[in-house]
Amino acid sequence: MPCTIVVGAQWGDEGKGKIIDILSADADIIVRYQGGNNAGHTVVIGDKEFILHLIPSGILHKGKMCIIGNGLVVDPEALLKEISMLREKGIEVDGNLLVSESAHVIFPYHKVIDKRRGAQIGTTGRGIGPCYVDKMARCGIRMADLVNKELLRKKLKANLEGSREFDFDEIYDAYIDYGRKIQKYFTNVSLFLNKAILKNKRILFEGAQGTLLDIDHGTYPYVTSSSSTAGGALTGTGVGPTKIDKVIGVVKAYTTRVGEGPFPTEFKKDLMEKIRSKGKEFGATTGRPRRCGWFDAVIVRHAVNVNGLSEIVVTKLDVLDEMEKIKICTGYKYKGKIYNDFPADLVVLENCTLIYEEYKGWMRDTTAIRSFKELPKNAKAYLERMSKLLGVKIGMVSVGSKRKQAFRI
Ligand code: IMP
Repeated sequence: MPCTIVVGAQWGDEGKGKIIDILSADADIIVRYQGGNNAGHTVVIGDKEFILHLIPSGILHKGKMCIIGNGLVVDPEALLKEISMLREKGIEVDGNLLVSESAHVIFPYHKVIDKRRGAQIGTTGRGIGPCYVDKMARCGIRMADLVNKELLRKKLKANLEGSREFDFDEIYDAYIDYGRKIQKYFTNVSLFLNKAILKNKRILFEGAQGTLLDIDHGTYPYVTSSSSTAGGALTGTGVGPTKIDKVIGVVKAYTTRVGEGPFPTEFKKDLMEKIRSKGKEFGATTGRPRRCGWFDAVIVRHAVNVNGLSEIVVTKLDVLDEMEKIKICTGYKYKGKIYNDFPADLVVLENCTLIYEEYKGWMRDTTAIRSFKELPKNAKAYLERMSKLLGVKIGMVSVGSKRKQAFRI
């Protein structure tokens, strides 16, 4: 384990929360490196369900250090709410949480801009994109600025100049108060992690969203505004590439996406409703119904390359239990040309016809299965074909939302 990155290999919602929760048992430190409270990581422990948006899912294990890296954009109000929610459910955060002083801060104006401009993309409306815009435009406000009264005043004044929509004093006072409450978690994340690496601590880098939502490698512009791929784990925490031992990609046994944008293998109505209800495919952050489709090996092969995946974890295999036939997309066809590799041109993705392989389903309940060898023959064949098409091994399979419903291979 020493330094393992976990990324989503599709459009997010692959079930990373549960997998991170399982892997956290063997980690000392869990760190998020990008995104913000647009993410929603669901973990079910016993009869309690936790949905975490900002704090790494590792917080649900006692005694693990959980870190919010510099690559995130943090809504302090949402962070404080999440801390309170965890406390109410009996989970102590103090002593187990650190927040980078360099993470950027989401302000009310970011959320308003996001709701106005983000509609076309179908953003979560949490202000993520506009906050990253300010970061890149070098007018962003960072966590450390919240405890520097003069600097915050100056920066906020400049950002609100000419605006009649927002009340400077109201925002300033609220954010000074947030800074006062969050300051105790501040740290230099890069320094902390590099010292921990020297002491051989086991670190898990928790990616949010997924490869196809990455600002550089996703289906641009229908993406989020951060680097959700493995490279983001380095820039988003200040750890160098030579320190990383393993990159795990989490994939769903089929495909989903929330929001707008191309989705070649998307189901038609009947299958859509069947899988959506069986897989409970509704956004953990916005509650929006997720679009569902067949497993697309082209996009996951792209994720294997972009992230340098060492292995994959396949989640929600059980959702396919009642399917008589199951398809895997292995390529696209557009204007007579066959694409076995992910095309950057959205026109191809939006207008291609699909090349499918069809498999017989297994028509058996897999939710109580705890090893690869117990799986029905057709389920094994499906996973083996998936692994062959992707060129990586499968390290773990998940067959339900509970912690125990997963097994390593
Ligand atoms: P934003 O991240 O709120 O800017 O939204 C940009 C796109 O990413 C939209 O299509 C969202 O639905 C999608 N998105 C953002 N976060 C997640 C996530 O955690 N899971 C799945 N989709 C997400």
